[in-house]
Amino acid sequence: MKTQGVDVNVTINNVLKTLTVAQDESLLLALRRASYFSVKSGCDDGTCGICIVLINGKPERSCKIKALTVEGAKITTIEGLGDAERLHPLQEAFMETGAIQCGFCTPAQILHAKALLDENSNPTEDEIRHALNGVLCRCTGYVRGVDAVQRAAAKMRDEPVEPFTHLEQILPEDIGHLKLPESFYRRDGSRNPLPPLVFTPLEMTTTHIVGKPEVKVDAKKLVQGRPVFTDDFRREGMLYGALLTSPHAHAHIRRIDASRARELPGVRAVLTCEDIPRIKYASGGQSYPQPLPYDQVSLDKKVRHVGDRVAIAAAETLELAQEALSLIDVEYDLLPIVVDPEAAMQDGAPIIHDEPDTESIHDPERNIVHHIEAHAGDVDAAFGEADHLFEGTYRTPKQQQVHLEPHVCITYFDEDERLVIRTSTQVPFHIRRMVAPLIGLPVKQIRVVKPRIGGGFGNKQELILEDLCAHLTLATNRPVRMEYTRTQEFTSSRSRHANIIRYKIGVKDEKVTAANLYLIGDTGAYGAHALTVNMVGGFKGLTLYNPPNVQFISDVVYTNTPPAGAFRGYGAMQCQFGIEVLMEEIADKLGLDVVEFKRSNWLKVGEPMHLSKSLGEGREGVEQSLQTSALDLCVDIGRLATDFEAKRQKHRQQDGRYRHGIGMAVVMHGSGIADLDMASATLKMNDDGSFNLLIGATDLGTGSDTILAQMAAEILGIPLEDIIVYSSDTDFTPFDKGAYASSTTYISGGAVRKAALKIKEQILEHASLMLGGIDMHDLKLQDRQVKTLDGRSISLAEIGLSSLHQQNQHQIIASASHKSPLSPPPTAAQFAEIVVDMETGKINTERLLMVVDCGRVINPATASGQVEGGMAQALGFALTEEMLFDDDGQPLNPNLSKYRIPRAARMPAMDVIFVQTDEPSGPFGAKSVSEIAIDGVSPAMASALHDATSLWMRELPYTAERVKAALKKAGH
Ligand code: FES
Repeated sequence: MKTQGVDVNVTINNVLKTLTVAQDESLLLALRRASYFSVKSGCDDGTCGICIVLINGKPERSCKIKALTVEGAKITTIEGLGDAERLHPLQEAFMETGAIQCGFCTPAQILHAKALLDENSNPTEDEIRHALNGVLCRCTGYVRGVDAVQRAAAKMRDEPVEPFTHLEQILPEDIGHLKLPESFYRRDGSRNPLPPLVFTPLEMTTTHIVGKPEVKVDAKKLVQGRPVFTDDFRREGMLYGALLTSPHAHAHIRRIDASRARELPGVRAVLTCEDIPRIKYASGGQSYPQPLPYDQVSLDKKVRHVGDRVAIAAAETLELAQEALSLIDVEYDLLPIVVDPEAAMQDGAPIIHDEPDTESIHDPERNIVHHIEAHAGDVDAAFGEADHLFEGTYRTPKQQQVHLEPHVCITYFDEDERLVIRTSTQVPFHIRRMVAPLIGLPVKQIRVVKPRIGGGFGNKQELILEDLCAHLTLATNRPVRMEYTRTQEFTSSRSRHANIIRYKIGVKDEKVTAANLYLIGDTGAYGAHALTVNMVGGFKGLTLYNPPNVQFISDVVYTNTPPAGAFRGYGAMQCQFGIEVLMEEIADKLGLDVVEFKRSNWLKVGEPMHLSKSLGEGREGVEQSLQTSALDLCVDIGRLATDFEAKRQKHRQQDGRYRHGIGMAVVMHGSGIADLDMASATLKMNDDGSFNLLIGATDLGTGSDTILAQMAAEILGIPLEDIIVYSSDTDFTPFDKGAYASSTTYISGGAVRKAALKIKEQILEHASLMLGGIDMHDLKLQDRQVKTLDGRSISLAEIGLSSLHQQNQHQIIASASHKSPLSPPPTAAQFAEIVVDMETGKINTERLLMVVDCGRVINPATASGQVEGGMAQALGFALTEEMLFDDDGQPLNPNLSKYRIPRAARMPAMDVIFVQTDEPSGPFGAKSVSEIAIDGVSPAMASALHDATSLWMRELPYTAERVKAALKKAGH
């Protein structure tokens, strides 16, 4: 973008600069245009705080400041901290503690912390939380950031600082002898960050790189604010794209006229439904063939929700592109609207998909996109024989993912006239396959590049902008950039399905003998992930207690609201909320100890999962049984750490305005999609003994690049720094289904392990040759060397040089693919401690503790970060987050000031304990960890709320207004 404007002289990072800025240009845009790419944009209204820079030492939101006004100021961005040789102590501490996940918010967090430490060298934990409160982070639970600031402050005061690590304990044979480190009892009521605690069974083998809290391989570039994200890239001649969205929830487009927009100088293309071929697709990034129906087209003649696509424009500037959109004349024929899923299923409801060319909608007249049924045993007979029958209906809200980096995409033709799509996606290979027919190019003419991603949580497992951006490049033959506004993230991306969850349970002799689940899933205007999310919900929601007689029925329903899609937890968290609360209600009604009632009923090792075959993901699944679980121990360790029974006892006597409650829930998840998910990896040896690890797996900030490299390093006997990881580029990395379904550690890890074992064999073979034909079985890889039994050794660098240049010359390289017939469930116990204000209904969460069995923990720092971040997102789901719409389908809170996600200051103490098991089907015994972390908080919160108030609240979120109303109704 060329700017004609005013010169502003500023000192940026101690260097005098002249910025030429436009009259109304924000400092944020001026700094990014001047290549200070660490300054990020994440919202439209200054709420997120990730655009923070220091102006004369004070943190300021650069999006709210006009660049014109900073003449003479001293500005600090993260690029000005530390240097290539030496990082600032805050940068070092953020790396070391695992405070960085996606890294999109990291520069702003560090700058806030720097401003604090510049004024106060020894801040309290509360002061640090308040300093970080101005910056939203959606990946972490803020815990490691607080820890990082404490460590950096101590270091800057020249006080000794222990290296960040985890606590390890061997499991005793008898839980009665188990003692936790004193800090884990939290008897002082503090919120101070604790390192994760890892319990290991005595019989588990020892590893060297696997199991260590290695610093993330991408941490340094993230902490330095290097230009690593999709939008930190400019292409000569790049145009700016913009999307016109529908102001109406349901309408036909009677007439659309873009002529005035096209005439605007600087506008290079305007495309409407009249300019783009009508090709049906489903936007969910899933394996081929994606589940039907294909109910979308790139630009349609009908709009089905506020925020639906209407037209796109590309122009020399973003302002011009937006102006062009405002000049498009659209005449709508408004249609009746339905936003409630139960109303949408009634006869006579407005039909949302009445187009004749969408196939496989189950019942278009009643807006039912999918009707799912599955059963095992004889539910009716078992209900007839039960001692007791219990029923409960639970409601969970539509939640937005709120990844801080919006959807953003840049498309261009390279020198070979191949279309390059640089995009923030979880599924680069699916995107390439899915976009090809929409834009009329063969797959081989498309290259998808995935840079670092600023969070996704499922919302980037979706074709959102790539087809539109590519259409604009095709129309203009120019590079085009498109990015969603934060409002568009709420109205035009995806969200969690809102659910109505009806359980009926039969209990005989204190055993759950039968269960029926009727699940209504609100998929919004389109059916992306509609089938699979609700299948997973039914499977997990009926397998946690796995009664032999079981029935699942689900209707997935269109409404005139923005489409639902994939979101961490993927149906399982909603249904496990329902079943866990009902199980607790049952124990309460029958006067049973809730923990023991659940324990006698939950899925046990060796038991077949009755619905695993009938509820695959979108197709028939496979028979599975549970191979490993430490759920018993997880629960008992959590009870010990929280003093669960004693607190419950004490709470029975309390009265007054503020009431304490403690709750517990158990949850399970999966590890990839059994017999479907496939990943591959390539390892290549270099002539200094280092290795390139090429993977299609997609690190969203989760640390998957790091843990996959740890697996390879473990097998090759080398430090992590000798592995150079590259992910992902459809031209250069092998296929991976992408980052979803909790599959990366388990499935992609399986591929990396196989490739590493293959390359190890090649190395030993070559070493044998170099050592005069010594038996390969007498060789071992260790400490960057191949060692013989008689004490000789040759280095990997010598082997690399020899294989490439001297003996039996060849490239030591291996690729492997992996899929699994199983999806072994991680299991966990979630504990929540709260205080309820009986007058206002406000819940203050004091502590969240998750005790998790995710198999072997590959990296305790990244794994605990996943658990803390999952609990934080779940806390929002439980207490505040809910996308709201009026009866006309107009969104009521499509921004971050009205839709409130957790901030640092009010976060509770968050603790993570791992209880390792050795999953035989997993790489090094690993299962998954990322999604189970979000599953347990809301049922544990329900349990705690009942403990505090005697209320069973069946609808989330537990806002103060909702709790207050329930208290009032109950006579408080
Ligand atoms: Fe904070 Fe991702 S690490 S938003």
